[in-house]
Amino acid sequence: MLLPYFRRVQSSLIKKLRPDTSTSRPTLLLDWYDGHRRVLPWRALPGEASDPYRVWLSEIMLQQTTVKAVGPYFERFLARWPDVGSLGRAPLEDVLRMWAGLGYYSRARNLHACAVMVMRDHGGAFPDTEAGLRALPGIGPYTAAAIAAIAFARQSMPVDGNIERVVSRLHAVEEPLPKAKPRIAELAATLLADARAGDSAQALMDLGATICTPRKPACALCPLNHDCAARWRGDQDTFPRKAPKKTGARRRGAAFVVVRGADILLRTRPDKGLLGGMTEVPTTAWAADWDATTALADAPPIKVTWRSRAGVVNHIFTHFPLDLVVYVATVPAKTGAPDGMRWVRIADLPTEALPNLMRKVIAHGLGQ
Ligand code: ADE
Repeated sequence: MLLPYFRRVQSSLIKKLRPDTSTSRPTLLLDWYDGHRRVLPWRALPGEASDPYRVWLSEIMLQQTTVKAVGPYFERFLARWPDVGSLGRAPLEDVLRMWAGLGYYSRARNLHACAVMVMRDHGGAFPDTEAGLRALPGIGPYTAAAIAAIAFARQSMPVDGNIERVVSRLHAVEEPLPKAKPRIAELAATLLADARAGDSAQALMDLGATICTPRKPACALCPLNHDCAARWRGDQDTFPRKAPKKTGARRRGAAFVVVRGADILLRTRPDKGLLGGMTEVPTTAWAADWDATTALADAPPIKVTWRSRAGVVNHIFTHFPLDLVVYVATVPAKTGAPDGMRWVRIADLPTEALPNLMRKVIAHGLGQ
């Protein structure tokens, strides 16, 4: 019962003790960024103009993927398709193949569709406003704000998980996410510097990634530490507040790894939906109520003797976790591929558009 009283006393003491700084937060942030910015392959060097194509490509790749994972993909894409025109002219299959491993393949389809649209409807130049960018495939509110700020110096603040954490700590935002999003976005926008919006946004991203980390933030090194409300209270690592997560039910199924000499049996998933257009080994349907005892009743692609591999392959999709049991079989040299399937040389698997889940399944099946 005394806790609210102590909190009030504490917060009035904090106001008295807090040093009075005359430098604004946006300026402190940029000063810090100028000395500590991460060197990332898509970032323009200080004083260099940013290239909207590179900014767009990196932002699409960074949706739901880490900076570390994106680096090599970004370099490979850029080497093969140095501008939006060359990417728009590339066959979609090539783009999906190069994307394989980055996950969420609808992003690669939208990436390609977006390049085509920029060429066809915008004469090869990306729109330079948030609204114009929003109208392109694969560009949601976050990505539009990021590109508008970084590539076109618009006064927009993209708010990702890192920025949410920094801002919710800075202001000790008690409201839990996702409800707090509008408030956090409003507070984040106050950190934009007039002339360098893109750098303000990237400074916050870097601060969140390197100093204001989810656990054990390095507050002593933070340029905003003197006026961080959560730090003054000492509970900075409890922010942002989050409403309990609702994840989908775990789904289960079986996957079939069929080997014919040096070949493996594969098929292509339907264009629409989860992992659309990607390559996979045949599987049963994936369902929460999947019954393992029926796995070999009617789903296997070929009539043979199956061996089940011990253990399961797990994968976490955004909306549900998945467990696949893996069955393997070896078939004679002349065995034909069932309808809609094909034999692919195992040595050629690196060039197939195989999602990570399927790479795990195949490695498990082949005992690698
Ligand atoms: N995450 C998303 N966009 C980013 C960027 N431009 N720099 C660093 N991390 C990011």
